[in-house]
Amino acid sequence: MIENNLSPASITSNLGTHFIGKRVIYYPSLTSTMEMAKQEAQQGAVEGTVIIAGEQTVGRGRIKRVWLSPKGNIALSIILYPSVVNLPFLIMLASLAVVHSIEAVTGLKSQVKWPNDVLVNGRKVCGILVESSVRGNIVDYASIGIGVNVNLRLSDFPEILSTATSLSDELGRDVSRLSVIRRLLVEVERLYLALQAGGSIYEEWRDSLITLDRRVRVKSDKTVYEGIAESVARDGSLLLRHSNGNLSKIVAGDATLRD
Ligand code: BTN
Repeated sequence: MIENNLSPASITSNLGTHFIGKRVIYYPSLTSTMEMAKQEAQQGAVEGTVIIAGEQTVGRGRIKRVWLSPKGNIALSIILYPSVVNLPFLIMLASLAVVHSIEAVTGLKSQVKWPNDVLVNGRKVCGILVESSVRGNIVDYASIGIGVNVNLRLSDFPEILSTATSLSDELGRDVSRLSVIRRLLVEVERLYLALQAGGSIYEEWRDSLITLDRRVRVKSDKTVYEGIAESVARDGSLLLRHSNGNLSKIVAGDATLRD
């Protein structure tokens, strides 16, 4: 393994950001960085506070799934206080930041599978979870949780072997988690500032999706939809064309590519 040291100082020093990653809290082992981010936000943590775990014992995935988060991976949450209009864009922003960072650090090209899985060579390398507390038009806080399979030997995890990959498995060598984390924080801040300045993230996110024009099956709550993923709306919803010509707008779900 390249480095065990993910000390806050090694992450924050000369990072070059204005607020993201100015305060980093590192736990060698934690239930979930989302849980800690919530507590920190409720106590008024400064915007851009980052919670990092060496490993998570109860990592949270989307749709109440468990997220495997052993040592060697990246598990972090970033606390933000966005406006309510910018809230839907955090998922897009996070997936783009991951795509950019993976390419910058490793040279690997990745794509986004709607809504926010990052894939390398068709397998999931990163999962993203955005949690927030909103009252009316006020966002109390939002936290972006990012889990990247960095130095993970997938052959040790048969339960996800067919669908997941890691940066080290793709490259055949270990990858510096520190480099990926530092780049990620820079990218998240760059995109967040662009968003706040009125820039649009939607087009780049749409263009990075491998899901569009493909036959997909989407599980959303208890409903399963099947059709061609025709486009995505600005709020991040998927527009799915059924064989009878009808169109469904799916706000959240889990997509499987069928072709
Ligand atoms: C998914 O694809 O289901 C989303 C996975 C999100 C995992 C990250 S790891 C850091 C943060 N803490 C968690 O417990 N979950 C997110």
